[in-house]
Amino acid sequence: MRHAPALLNETTEALVRSAGLYIDGTLGDGGHSEAILKRLAQNGWLDASFVIGIDRDDEALRAASERLKGYKNFRAEKANFSELARYAKENEACGVLLDLGVSSRQIDEGERGFSFQKSARLDMRMNQAQSLSAWEVVNQSSEEKLAEILWKYGEEKKSRRIAKRIAERRRLKPIETTSELADIVKACAPKGEQIKTLARVFQAIRIEVNDELGELERALPEALKTLRSGGRIAVISYHSLEDRIAKDFFREQSQDDWGYEKGLKGLPLKEPLRKATMKLVTKKPIEPSEKEINENPRARSAKLRVAEKL
Ligand SMILES: C[S@@+](CC[C@H](N)C(=O)[O-])C[C@H]1O[C@@H](n2cnc3c(N)ncnc32)[C@H](O)[C@@H]1O
Repeated sequence: MRHAPALLNETTEALVRSAGLYIDGTLGDGGHSEAILKRLAQNGWLDASFVIGIDRDDEALRAASERLKGYKNFRAEKANFSELARYAKENEACGVLLDLGVSSRQIDEGERGFSFQKSARLDMRMNQAQSLSAWEVVNQSSEEKLAEILWKYGEEKKSRRIAKRIAERRRLKPIETTSELADIVKACAPKGEQIKTLARVFQAIRIEVNDELGELERALPEALKTLRSGGRIAVISYHSLEDRIAKDFFREQSQDDWGYEKGLKGLPLKEPLRKATMKLVTKKPIEPSEKEINENPRARSAKLRVAEKL
């Protein structure tokens, strides 16, 4: 099934404000890219504009290229979004979009191993050419490292207990499938908490496999570099770890940096060490309406933050 894009109108409305270059760093099924192209067309800006859609998943690139083949002002590129600055000059882009996490297509294709509801080889790679998969993370990380991954990326309170069980089990034979892993995790949680625990554990392993937080941390300064003055970055996140990275980056960039010197020696600085480079467009994140959540339950945790380059 096609991925239903979250916060579609809110995102395009905030992002598309003039003709020019737009970078969709998370092309997926191309829903957001298509909406950007349509909005450009509605405003009569399409001929003077271009949209580059980046994804690291071959299936996503194939599906989105097929969907958007009628647009000559669109191109799909296989890359990590942390490399997006390769596709624009400095101070060129009007907008950059990062709609984080996995797509419904990736979750629904059981054999990709993203879902604990479908039995498959432990995989979870967004980029099928990458060598590290969930199999290596589950079978080859030390017990301590596994506990740390579950704690840091899943905020899982039973991280040590689950890591211990995994380590005990794999001493007998490697854990090959999502259902084997799910059974071990379920045995560590009371009945009423099993689904939530599974969701946290699978999220944590997926984040580790795809270096999702590192990608976001590296991408934001690159995106800022490519933006022209007045250009905007829009980030849609689905859990607090991602949202915090976007929030902190936007806050840091939207404030003058006076360093620790300010007032310390009675000699207040006349100029900040670094001036603000962005202003916040969304002081609080935009969240989906009840109507959108009813129609698309996977959008329920979406948070959109937007900031503009000064
Ligand atoms: C939530 S989906 C995007 C859905 C898309 N906005 C749409 O309307 O169909 C996220 C997509 O971003 C891709 N992705 C996630 N992290 C990435 C990264 N660091 N570099 C490139 N692509 C990434 C995933 O493979 C997935 O296809």
